[in-house]
Parts: sequence; C-alpha cells; structure tokens
Amino acid sequence: DLPARVRIHEVGARDGLQNEKTVVPTGVKAEFIHRLAASGLTTVEATSFVHPKWVPQLADAEDLFPRLADIDGVALPVLVPNERGLDRALALGARRIAVFGSATETFAARNLNRTVDESLAMFEPVVARAKADKVHVRGYLSMCFGDPWEGPVPVHQVVRVAKALMDLGCDELSLGDTIGVATPGHVQTLLAELNEEGVPTDTIGVHFHDTYGQALSNTLAALQHGVTTVDASAGGLGGCPYAKSATGNLATEDLVWMLQGLGIETGVDLDALTATSVWLADQLGRPSPSRTVRALSVR
Ligand code: HMG
Ligand code: MG
Repeated sequence: DLPARVRIHEVGARDGLQNEKTVVPTGVKAEFIHRLAASGLTTVEATSFVHPKWVPQLADAEDLFPRLADIDGVALPVLVPNERGLDRALALGARRIAVFGSATETFAARNLNRTVDESLAMFEPVVARAKADKVHVRGYLSMCFGDPWEGPVPVHQVVRVAKALMDLGCDELSLGDTIGVATPGHVQTLLAELNEEGVPTDTIGVHFHDTYGQALSNTLAALQHGVTTVDASAGGLGGCPYAKSATGNLATEDLVWMLQGLGIETGVDLDALTATSVWLADQLGRPSPSRTVRALSVR
C-alpha cells in the first residue's frame, strides 16, 4: 500500500547550495527559497549555522535567514551542529533545527571533527535546549548504506546511531544515503530493522543522493514500507563537501513526477517548481541534471 500524501523536505537551498564551487549571492538564495515556498513545498531547509570556514558557501546564514521572515506557513529548518550553532539559529528566531550525525567514524571525523560518540555528546545539549524551547528537531544520519572510505555500512551500526539520535529526543530521523549507493532491498532491510529496534516508520524520512540513478527506486521502496517524508533537492542540486563521490540529491521534480503519476498528493505545483530550477540553473550557469526539469523545460 502506498501513502495518500507525501511531505517533501526540500533541501536544495542547503544540501544543494553548500556544494556549489562559487558562493551564490545571498539575494539569489533568498529568491530561490521564496520561489520554492511559493511552489507549494511545505518544508524548505534554508541554511546551516555551521563553522563558516568549514562551509563557506553558507557563511551568510545571519544575512539570509532574516530575509525569509515574510514566508508564511512554510517550515524553514536549519542545520545546527553544536551549541554555538544553536545560539546563532535561536537568536534569529529559527523554530526548526537539524543535527547531523554519521553512521561511520571516517565521515564523523571529516564532517564534524569528532568520533561518532563525541558527535552524539555534542548534539545532546543542542537537542535538550531545543526541546525545552519547543523547537522541532530533525536528526540526520549520514552514510546509512555505504561510505566512500569504509565501504558498505553494516545495518546494526546504522541502527545503533539511529537509536542514539532518537534517544537524545529528536522528533524525526532522516536516513542519509550520502553517496547514493543504496538499492531498494537494502532500504527495506534497514527500515525493517529500525522498526524491529523500536524506531517507528512515521518518524523516519529518507534522504537519497542519485549518484547511481537509484534514488527514485529507493524512494518507492521506502514508500512501500510506509515512509511519508522524502527529502529532495530542486533541480537535483547537491552533494556534500566532506564526502567525495557524493553527487546531487534526488531531484524534487523527478520525485513529484513519480508521485503525481501514482496519485500521491504533495501540494507542489510542478510547473512552478521547474521554472524555479531553470531560473536557478541560469544563475549558476549550468543546466539542471534533473531529467524531469529537462523534459518539462523543452516542451
Ligand atoms: P571544530 O573545528 O572541531 O570546532 O569544528 P570547535 O568546536 O573546536 O570550535 C572551534 C572554533 O569554531 C571556536 O571558535 C568556535 O566558537 C567556532 P574560537 O573559540 O576558536 O574562536 N565554532 C563555530 N562558529 C560558528 N558557528 C558554529 C561554530 N562551531 C564552532 N556552529 C564543527 C566542529 C562541527 C563546528 C565543524 O566541523 C563544522 O562546522 N562542520 C559542519 C560540516 C557541514 O556542514 N557539512 C555538511 C552538512 S552534512 C551533509 O551534507 C549530509 C546530509 O545532507 C545528509 C546526507 O546526505 O547524508 C545532512
Ligand atoms: Mg545530503
């Protein structure tokens, strides 16, 4: 059975733009996010309050976030790795944050300069303070399927960190296939194991990168399992600066095309979204990798 409705967690402005070689002007980011919200997306991840030296592409978070204040009825989550990031986000009135852990030691070291357990300890006061303030907390978990340095990642290793993130008090968990190596059977095995270990499907979102062209198949496998939150990036932008071989996320347009065909509601106006990705591609000076964006924009 497939769900009647899917909530798309749009990550283009964060996961997409964090990976751009050249820094995108703050005004372009603000217009991009306004257009994403206007296309009917209900969750638009806005930016990250991380160390500006680690991710220079998002160093303008303080300038950008206040420019989104007029966006109504759309959740604008931001990434926060530590208490310093939380302070910055709360000072600007952010009401939804995401911490981001790793299932593997190598990525935890490269992305957060911590071991897996040290990063969980770093998140603990962040989640506790956010919850005390009634701020919604998403817990990302990277390298849930494979890791570029460590290879395939054992399911039990992923489950341990997933449970630890939920035990900290995260409201939802996003399973990241950071380098896009997952295939549908692996997705269903991990979801079943998480359920078995007490993490219910309705708290789980899926976050697929499309490196091997499997993101849509993996998404369908997750929907068949009951997942209703799917991360995607407008135009298929994306990657991760600290994970070599990570390409773009599942393109939101490709996802919406499939969901529309299945009769699953998203609330997204596909034409408006496609026009936004074409506009952004012009700003970035290269075409969108999304097949759906290409197909719809040459009509
Ligand atoms: P660190 O160097 O260990 O930092 O980095 P530290 O805790 O030792 O602090 C050093 C200095 O940085 C201090 O300043 C802090 O105040 C400052 P000093 O006292 O020396 O003057 N500092 C900060 N400044 C501003 N904002 C902050 C902040 N934190 C510390 N938040 C740290 C540790 C976590 C900060 C660093 O590793 C970092 O910023 N990492 C972020 C990496 C990142 O954003 N990666 C991309 C997102 S993850 C992803 O894309 C995957 C995902 O899409 C899912 C998937 O696909 O799998 C989510
Ligand atoms: Mg990602």
